[in-house]
Amino acid sequence: MANILITGGAGYIGSHTCIELLEANHKVIVLDNLSNSSEESLRRVQQLTRKTLTFIEGDIRNSDDLNAIFTNHAIDAVIHFAGLKAVGESQKIPLAYFDNNISGSITLVKAMEKAEVFTLVFSSSATVYDEANISPLNEDMPIGIPSNNYGYTKLIVEQMLEKVALADDRWSIALLRYFNPVGAHKSGLIGEDPQGIPNNLMPYITQVAVGMREKLSIFGNDYETVDGTGVRDYIHVVDLASAHLCALNNRLTYKGCRAWNVGTGNGHSVLQVKNTFEEVNGIPVPFEFAPRRSGDVAISYSDNSRAREELGWEAKYGLNDMLADSWNWQKKNPKGYRD
Ligand code: NAD
Ligand code: UD1
Repeated sequence: MANILITGGAGYIGSHTCIELLEANHKVIVLDNLSNSSEESLRRVQQLTRKTLTFIEGDIRNSDDLNAIFTNHAIDAVIHFAGLKAVGESQKIPLAYFDNNISGSITLVKAMEKAEVFTLVFSSSATVYDEANISPLNEDMPIGIPSNNYGYTKLIVEQMLEKVALADDRWSIALLRYFNPVGAHKSGLIGEDPQGIPNNLMPYITQVAVGMREKLSIFGNDYETVDGTGVRDYIHVVDLASAHLCALNNRLTYKGCRAWNVGTGNGHSVLQVKNTFEEVNGIPVPFEFAPRRSGDVAISYSDNSRAREELGWEAKYGLNDMLADSWNWQKKNPKGYRD
């Protein structure tokens, strides 16, 4: 049992990870400024697990908030989710992304160093891979400069953490490169709660299915893929959450900085996702084909053998589960946590 600080723990992936950690009997301390989440997610996490966690409303950019946490709680490790994640927004207000994601991570790592806490799991993204790589993407492939500012912050923080670990061998850092997280906890009590018009495919589909939006626009049907639409590696958020527990266990044992892909290793096209959603849930999803979205690649899916071999992690859920659970959450919470 360890004391784990989870930054951004009230958010989509963080709240699911809180469940995994509490169920593994860890003590959980969440720091979140609630800029993209609600404390209700954490109330539900505690309801589901019948365990309590400590919530601190605060900001990773505020060293006083961080120092107080490290002073008051004997933190053993940090899982760092906090940050902004909207790709379109990152093009309009880059400084807010550099401030939250890059400066915020620097402030966190400095506070960790001061408190002599050297174990960190960082939320990175498959977006750091060079677009010229051919899927399946593995961790030894070259990284590139992402086409958007959000992705750029992930690349910078990854590289910064690598250099920090190189300079001081007390550090033990996991860079988890997520593919496309979707789905929700089986209970339908917690899930993804996007603000405004969703950027990502899955929340867009569920919002069309529930009647909040008229139709799905499929961005491009002329890619060189199975049916012309973009292919991605969708990963159930509960599987993704469990990868954090595996990474934490690994990092509490090994030193240095290392990256792992977290994906299923399977690619599905947009049309396959839409059609499977309709079959699994019995709900029509009206759609139209629209022009390609700038910055999109045709195909991206993982080689996840490193995570399976080194972390002992594996994905348990397939596409049908992901789509059923996404819909279960949306149906039960049409307005997310704002009901
Ligand atoms: P989310 O927005 O639901 O969660 C992020 C949480 O961080 C929110 O609760 C938000 O209130 C909090 N936060 C933001 N800035 C903060 C700050 N300065 N101080 C304290 N709290 C702050 O997003 P998510 O989907 O759960 O993503 C979690 C992490 O995973 C993010 O770093 C994201 O970039 C990364 N990631 C997400 C995806 C995805 O598709 N969801 C893919 C790859 C990587
Ligand atoms: C996007 C971001 C990526 C980020 C990730 C997680 C871009 C270019 N990439 O990845 O940087 O790390 O989200 O937040 O924005 N699609 C539609 N219609 C929609 C939405 C999506 O057809 O309304 C298609 C896309 O073209 C793509 C697939 O669905 O082929 C998945 O899209 P999305 O969920 O946005 O994820 P990524 O593009 O993989």
